[in-house]
Amino acid sequence: MDSMRVIHLSAEGVSVVIATTNDGMPEIVHWGAAVTSAEPDLLTFVEAENRTGMVGDSDVPYRASMLPEHSRGWFGAPGLSAHRGGSGWAPRFALRSLALDGEEVGAGVTYADGGRVSAVLHDAYAEIELGLEIDLTSDGLIRARARVRNTADADMAAVPLEIHALAVALPIPTWAQEVLDFTGRWGHERIPQRHPIVRGDHSRISRRGRTGLDATLVQAVGTPGFSASTGEVWIGHVGFSGNHEHTIERTDGRLHFRGGESLLPGEIRLAPGEEYSGPWVFGSYGFGLDGAAARFHSYLRKRSRSSRRPRPVTMNVWEAVYFDHDHRVLVDLAARAAELGVERYVLDDGWFRGRNDDRAGLGDWTPDPVVWPAGLRPLADEVRALGMEFGLWVEPEMINEDSDLAREHPEWILRAGPELPPRYRFQQVLDLTQPGAFDHILAALDGLIDDIGVSYLKWDHNRDLIAAGHPRSGTPAVHEQTLAVYRLIDELRRRHPDLEIESCASGGGRVDLGILERTDRIHPSDSHDPHDRFGILRWTGLLVPPEMMGSHVASPVSSVTGRIHDLQFRCAVAFLGHFGIEWDIRDLDATDRRILSDWIARYRRHRELIATGRTVGAGELDATSPQVRGVVAADRSEALFTIVTPTTSPDTIARVRFPGLAADRSYRVSVSGSDSFGPPWQVPAWLRESPALGGDGDGDGEREGRGPVIAGAVLARVGLDFPTFHPDRAAVVHLAAVVGS
Ligand code: DGJ
Repeated sequence: MDSMRVIHLSAEGVSVVIATTNDGMPEIVHWGAAVTSAEPDLLTFVEAENRTGMVGDSDVPYRASMLPEHSRGWFGAPGLSAHRGGSGWAPRFALRSLALDGEEVGAGVTYADGGRVSAVLHDAYAEIELGLEIDLTSDGLIRARARVRNTADADMAAVPLEIHALAVALPIPTWAQEVLDFTGRWGHERIPQRHPIVRGDHSRISRRGRTGLDATLVQAVGTPGFSASTGEVWIGHVGFSGNHEHTIERTDGRLHFRGGESLLPGEIRLAPGEEYSGPWVFGSYGFGLDGAAARFHSYLRKRSRSSRRPRPVTMNVWEAVYFDHDHRVLVDLAARAAELGVERYVLDDGWFRGRNDDRAGLGDWTPDPVVWPAGLRPLADEVRALGMEFGLWVEPEMINEDSDLAREHPEWILRAGPELPPRYRFQQVLDLTQPGAFDHILAALDGLIDDIGVSYLKWDHNRDLIAAGHPRSGTPAVHEQTLAVYRLIDELRRRHPDLEIESCASGGGRVDLGILERTDRIHPSDSHDPHDRFGILRWTGLLVPPEMMGSHVASPVSSVTGRIHDLQFRCAVAFLGHFGIEWDIRDLDATDRRILSDWIARYRRHRELIATGRTVGAGELDATSPQVRGVVAADRSEALFTIVTPTTSPDTIARVRFPGLAADRSYRVSVSGSDSFGPPWQVPAWLRESPALGGDGDGDGEREGRGPVIAGAVLARVGLDFPTFHPDRAAVVHLAAVVGS
């Protein structure tokens, strides 16, 4: 093992140790808590794990590498599954180069504070080159991806290299024994499911051509009983918006997260010289779910345009008017929104040619001449005159058969055969892989942005892809379509450096780090029902920081669940997000207007903390206890917590702890939220007597200085009683460290 090369990357309390065993295929021998180890120790560790082989088994027991090879005796899923006309299906790769940040790595141990490891391997017989990249970011997040290249001579062009699967494996210690992942549906994304890990694969595959409303978002694996703040946790995520796979694979003595694109039959066939790259596969390690989630948040915050300026309070008109667009009504809504303190106004679906309902118009991206005879510029100007920016809804990947675009270009609709796929919300999918279609849509969007002065796009995607083939050949198109969408967004962003984009797909159907690399917030769900929304925000928040999740106050009767909730509850639940309104506010009475404008003022006052703080949670594992979502300032000088009462509880009170605070500081309490947590005699004094969380000079801020002061150690470790008498109530608690503490 003299030539053993070991690379030790460390950042933010995480170590990744990569060794080249198995004749050269890089193997992650440790991913988890930071190890500070001298060079000989790490080499000894890697060598100590070697086994000699057993009688009747492989002579060289297999060590799972980043891309496990069947040809070396791996009986789990191989990292690369490919063939060339039936041969070359069991490649055995030899290392050609191994570099750290571009510098070739020699024998022994190389240390770095993060960085990128790249390996190039080759199988001369199968004529496949394999590239592996693994980054440890400054946030302590792993990013890994693989690519394959067909290195056969041109005379082999008739027999392409067909790729079935290319997935990267990130190892997790087997003392992590439980997995938490998510399912969902329209109107209720991110429903948690949790169970012990058993031998075999636990796979969550999306074949919907978009990330999916039922997509798991992440797979979190942890030590038994892990929670928001306890246990070691490893989170895996595939950063891709097309078909993809998240798998937890448990084999003999080993456990890993395997992630990659899920390819359709014949989707990737490489001619000589061609290459296929898999998506980035992410891994975050931390103490508790919140520790692991924080790395994703920090990663996204560094990249997103949403970090550039305070999040503007948003009015989206979808649930206010749906398809019923009327210039006067929309201006009236804008005026009332501005009065309340709204700063961004988004015109949703229904504005373009022929779009009176969801059956027609997609593809015809010019304002409807009947409803908007002078175009949208006048409305946008009126919105701006009211002091708000103007945003617009689009669904660029879609086309209605009843549209001029479909009539002019029926050959631009994805299909796997002569028949069109089944409609889905009456729509089909535009083939953006065709340069003509791509250029047409790019020009249309570009024109809208310039002509109207659009600073924000809500980019929707309202159907799953069924039989999505290239129209001429019928071959699968999901992979290329996904990349074409990325290119389209990238080009628009290049042309409009200040444009912000929201990713929406019937709600939270496209939430992943592929789309979030190029968009600035998501629409987590079409359900604004605060009862469900709290969980949707909590769980989507394992990946996405609060300020990148649209969080709207909608009408008292939820459009999705039909449940009725009071305004304080709706506002309190929406508070820790990117706050906004999605409701017909024209008929609000004076009380509701005051409540709403108070919450908007509070949001504007506290949005910096929401957009920079560390997310914490508690209570999510116990249906009878209050649930907590919070953000704590990096220096722990202040924090905000939303506490929601359980649906029904056998108790009248429950202790609630406030995670993340400094134990050696004291905090002054102020509270806002539901006016009624139960009969007054059921409400503990701290909640009854704390002053109202202040707004923007709205008066109640003046009383803030008089709130009770409680030690951080008590708040974080002991907790305070919270009433559980009334279901569906929420409070927002603000804790400000008192000077000198
Ligand atoms: C689905 C989205 O989730 C809604 O917010 C809205 O934009 C509709 N599409 C419009 O068709």
